[in-house]
Amino acid sequence: MWCVWILLLALVSGTLALDKLNMCMDAKHHKTEPGPEGKLYQQCAPWRDNACCKANTSEEAHADDSYLYNFNWNHCGIMSSQCKKHFIQDTCFYECSPHLGPWIQKVDQSWRKERILNVPLCKEDCESWWNDCKNDMTCKEDWHYGWNWTTGHNVCPKGSFCRKWTDVFPTPKSMCEGIWSKSYLYTTLSKTSGHCMQLWFTGENPNKKVAEYYLNHATWQRLSLSTLLSLASLSVGIVLL
Ligand SMILES: *[C@@H]1O[C@H](CO)[C@@H](O)[C@H](O)[C@H]1NC(C)=O
Ligand SMILES: *[C@@H]1O[C@H](CO)[C@@H](O)[C@H](O)[C@H]1NC(C)=O
Repeated sequence: MWCVWILLLALVSGTLALDKLNMCMDAKHHKTEPGPEGKLYQQCAPWRDNACCKANTSEEAHADDSYLYNFNWNHCGIMSSQCKKHFIQDTCFYECSPHLGPWIQKVDQSWRKERILNVPLCKEDCESWWNDCKNDMTCKEDWHYGWNWTTGHNVCPKGSFCRKWTDVFPTPKSMCEGIWSKSYLYTTLSKTSGHCMQLWFTGENPNKKVAEYYLNHATWQRLSLSTLLSLASLSVGIVLL
């Protein structure tokens, strides 16, 4: 009897982990399933082999005031192109990545049902992002909330002022973690560690192995424990019957 349950348990948690390894979140522009997208645009091109974004989304990701979110990068003067390229990459990563499963959470928001939380970013990607934006300006620490949207685009709310980037975000960590309300987690891990997610890569997507690592080490234990408990109670129920 127990052999059967253990086999079943292994199967169930194995499939759940596999699902989490290759999936798209339930958000505004994501496909329902990942798959090849041969025409992904410019900075989103690295995801062509397997992506959660469509070609039109990837193209819009490169536009100012794109219709994806009507988000205005230039809310405190024109954002420099060296800074903006990181926001484009961040958008490609968010829209296209099929390997964010371990960090996807349900949310109660009008425009999406799921979000990412605490995705461990590689140090290099976070630090180059902050370094390239250092001379830009912004008025807010958290770009998800608190804008004035009355014009249809985000404008700095009353009482906030455009300040130097480094005054708003004193460190790379404060920027990467704060800007999208903890979507990212700052780490001191480097790209070669295989234990952090890369916004920038070429060739085969290195993030699949990273997601696999986190699924095997962190999520799996919680998952299998709860599966074990539910299967155990189920088996008790069946034995009693
Ligand atoms: C992209 O094109 C598809 C049709 O292929 C359409 O359903 C979708 O709304 C478009 N998305 C965006 C963001 O334009
Ligand atoms: C929002 O922006 C509009 C138009 O610029 C302005 O009239 C209004 O006072 C602003 N509201 C707040 C709360 O900042």
